[in-house]
Amino acid sequence: MNLFDVYPLNNIEIVKAQGSTVWDAEGQEYLDLYGGHAVISIGHTHPHYVQRLTDQLNKVGFYSNSVKIALQVQLAEQLGKVSGKTDYQLFLCNSGAEANENALKLASFYNGRKKVIAFKGAFHGRTSLAVSATDNPKIIAPVNETDNIVFLPHNDEAALEQAFAEFGNDVAAVIIEGIQGVGGIKEASISFLQKIRSLCDHYNSVYIADSVQCGYGRTGMFYSHEYAGVNADVYTMAKGMGNGFPVAGISIAPKFKPWHGMLGTTFGGNHLACAAALAVLEIIEQDDLLKNAETIGSYLIEELKRIEEVKEVRGRGLMIGIDLPESLAHVKKELLFKHKIFTGEAKPNVIRLLPALNLTKDQADQFLKEFKIALKG
Ligand SMILES: Cc1ncc(COP(=O)(O)O)c(C=O)c1O
Repeated sequence: MNLFDVYPLNNIEIVKAQGSTVWDAEGQEYLDLYGGHAVISIGHTHPHYVQRLTDQLNKVGFYSNSVKIALQVQLAEQLGKVSGKTDYQLFLCNSGAEANENALKLASFYNGRKKVIAFKGAFHGRTSLAVSATDNPKIIAPVNETDNIVFLPHNDEAALEQAFAEFGNDVAAVIIEGIQGVGGIKEASISFLQKIRSLCDHYNSVYIADSVQCGYGRTGMFYSHEYAGVNADVYTMAKGMGNGFPVAGISIAPKFKPWHGMLGTTFGGNHLACAAALAVLEIIEQDDLLKNAETIGSYLIEELKRIEEVKEVRGRGLMIGIDLPESLAHVKKELLFKHKIFTGEAKPNVIRLLPALNLTKDQADQFLKEFKIALKG
């Protein structure tokens, strides 16, 4: 049997990983500033994480949501505390797409409406509604095409106001990333998020903050949308939540009332997933990783802005986009194969940095040094 070949792969096999360092099958060491796509939040194979998962596996790894799972309650309490949303409610699932899918469904159940406002450049995942709200026709299958999604220009307050004036009473939800990841590290402006909040309040629509990539402390705030100083109704999260263990969730405002059967999943919130998510939150708190993401991220952004070959530096904390001119499009591959540094990318020529939140200043300096050499060719 062959693999279904949907991924363009780098010819590297990672066999060992620790913190922000990974090693390939030949023993070559790499600096990991990609974190397996913003997933590694507390560093690879963190000892506390490994211990907590191992201990849990030796007790019970899985049981379904037909019995009480105390770890879910602990996770909800801890997440409420760290995210500053103690009065919100937690629904657990398995991936970012599933989190957004459930958030959109919840919104529609809540106000009985069908229309969703999403934005140009958005990526919300590949399940049916999430992919329909994703601005990439290539990955939307005919069966996922729907008139229920309206795409508006990003950060365009006038267009948003006009859309609400035209059909605001049909809008179930507005879904937006705090910082567009796949779209190239583009931040939602503070006034735009505030406008979304006030229009959603006025029209009883649901503000969904897709925090799958920009959340979980990556920008120095637990949810990057919080820089706007207004609450979303639903926050979706995944990637950094389990440091590689598939776990996702939605944090739901108190005004939403659940009923049995409203949402559900077989695997979501299983014992191992909760242990992984708890280990992550414990390390985030214990090592003050939001502060570190903010400090090291600001340092990197400042230093990158000084480099004259760079067209633009975007982002916050440890979610950074380095926009390069077309003539330097080769630099990303060179960083990996010559300088042994993993980074992410966004089209057309943006290098994305999405490292673990405990990246050190020395590691940041190592990247800056190698990056400058790579730019000179
Ligand atoms: C902002 C955002 N939302 C949703 C998703 C989908 O997450 P998953 O791949 O876990 O389904 C992603 C994945 O890259 C993302 O960046």
